[in-house]
Amino acid sequence: MRVIVLPTADDVSRRAAEVILGCVQKKSKAVLGLATGSTPLGTYRELIIAYCAGKISFREVTTFNLDEYVGLGPDHPQSYRSFMREHLFSKADFDETKCHVPDGLASDYEDYCESYEQEIRDSGGIDLQLLGIGTDGHIAFNEPGSSLASRVRLKALTKETRADNSRFFATGDEVPHLAVTMGVGTILEARRILLLATGANKANAVRAFIEGPVTAQVTASSLQLHPHVTVLLDEPAAEWLQRRDYYNEIEQIQLRVEQRQPVA
Ligand code: F6R
Repeated sequence: MRVIVLPTADDVSRRAAEVILGCVQKKSKAVLGLATGSTPLGTYRELIIAYCAGKISFREVTTFNLDEYVGLGPDHPQSYRSFMREHLFSKADFDETKCHVPDGLASDYEDYCESYEQEIRDSGGIDLQLLGIGTDGHIAFNEPGSSLASRVRLKALTKETRADNSRFFATGDEVPHLAVTMGVGTILEARRILLLATGANKANAVRAFIEGPVTAQVTASSLQLHPHVTVLLDEPAAEWLQRRDYYNEIEQIQLRVEQRQPVA
């Protein structure tokens, strides 16, 4: 796991956008896995800036979002489809027919979840999966106790996640209890994974998933089993890491390797 600590959340957004742009520049038909929530907003802003400056086109890119609330249709203002349209898809040249967000109104979830998996496989698999992390250590909506081999499925949200996400809902509006989510096993099949965490409220989950044991109680810890994960943190999110100096040291060496400079 490559752990990079940057001074601010804006630096995290800029670096994350560079990674995504690099992926699309290398492969115009890249398949991106995308996340919602507060964390990737700055990254999406940077992607839009790059698009508006004529530096990139997303026309041929295919996307798969991690999750959607059950019971919210694509036009519901709090649905993740609306979120993605508002914060990314409509602001650049994405072809929305290639932008997949799970259906929160499917009539047969077993069939539907299998078909979402199949669509990912049919696209050739995800080249780069962007992730945030919940305060309980979840990735996508794989709440504590989720199987580390889980696939796309329905998941009940914990009280903690519903409380965290209530900030997106008008007072009095209930955060849905259920979501369709990619499973941990689905996420681990992405060729490359980029996890972002910013803010002091993520410090506990960050320490647990990077330096704690691999456990279904912190589903992000499953990323320890993936060979190509980059974690971008701002200072507050990295505060409780015990091996920070070591990660910085590795990063300096990694940069020299990438720039083909002597490492010893
Ligand atoms: C969103 C998702 C979630 C969020 C996580 C962090 O699609 O899958 O796992 O990434 O809950 O949310 P924020 O970024 O709002 O703190």
